[in-house]
Amino acid sequence: MSAIILILQLALAFIMLPFYILNWLGILDPISKKLFPYFMDSFTDVYNKEMEDQKKNLFGKLSDFAASSKQLQLLELGCGTGANFKFYPSGCRVTCLDINPNFQKFLSKSQAENDHLTYDGFLVASADNMTPVADASMDVVVCTLLACSLPNTPAMLKEVKRVLRPGGAFYFMEHVASTDASSWINFGQKVLNPTWKLFLDGCSMRKTTWKDIEKAGFSELKLRHVKAPISMKLISPHIIGYAVK
Ligand SMILES: C[S@@+](CC[C@H](N)C(=O)[O-])C[C@H]1O[C@@H](n2cnc3c(N)ncnc32)[C@H](O)[C@@H]1O
Repeated sequence: MSAIILILQLALAFIMLPFYILNWLGILDPISKKLFPYFMDSFTDVYNKEMEDQKKNLFGKLSDFAASSKQLQLLELGCGTGANFKFYPSGCRVTCLDINPNFQKFLSKSQAENDHLTYDGFLVASADNMTPVADASMDVVVCTLLACSLPNTPAMLKEVKRVLRPGGAFYFMEHVASTDASSWINFGQKVLNPTWKLFLDGCSMRKTTWKDIEKAGFSELKLRHVKAPISMKLISPHIIGYAVK
């Protein structure tokens, strides 16, 4: 089976050779960084409809983590277009962080549409090195569909634990590698992953993010493996939940 996967990967790489060369020359990345927000804008419409129940369920009790009599301080990592804003509770203070400044235009639109929240700024930084965010300053940190693009998830989780106050929570909804070795999804992920990464801003379908979260040393962890009811079946294996510092 692994020989077939390798042959198919190589065949696909051969067809896509011009793009691999553009990538190697450093030409593809700046183009992709400009176009990716447009892709995410339309993807979000579909994904949010398909995942509405899961997002409502996940974010429904965020307010439980507000420090007493204060507004909930929430940091969203890899915020993209602001896909999660409509699911956050009224009055919540949101700090947005993303490595790609080209999301600003889409983020501003989502902020205008979601005036039940207060926005404390947009930080252009990497989630695995967020020095502008003070230690123990957040009640909640959220990341959705981010870990797939991070080369070093443990470094991000270390930063998450640094910026969360004791008792604060890390919320996640991430697509991950299929664990069912005999499934078509597993096969498709393996064959298509190198080319997928090339076109989708470094996103990997083969991340085992749950292992990193389990090892990160949170005091409490609620993590579920689910098959997300989405049309893009290749990324339907998801982990959803939260971890308390
Ligand atoms: C697939 S999009 C998901 C956006 C949004 N979280 C959502 O659920 O729709 C991944 C986002 O993570 C951002 N990103 C990728 N690497 C990052 C990093 N190292 N630090 C912060 N953000 C990053 C991308 O720019 C993009 O906005």
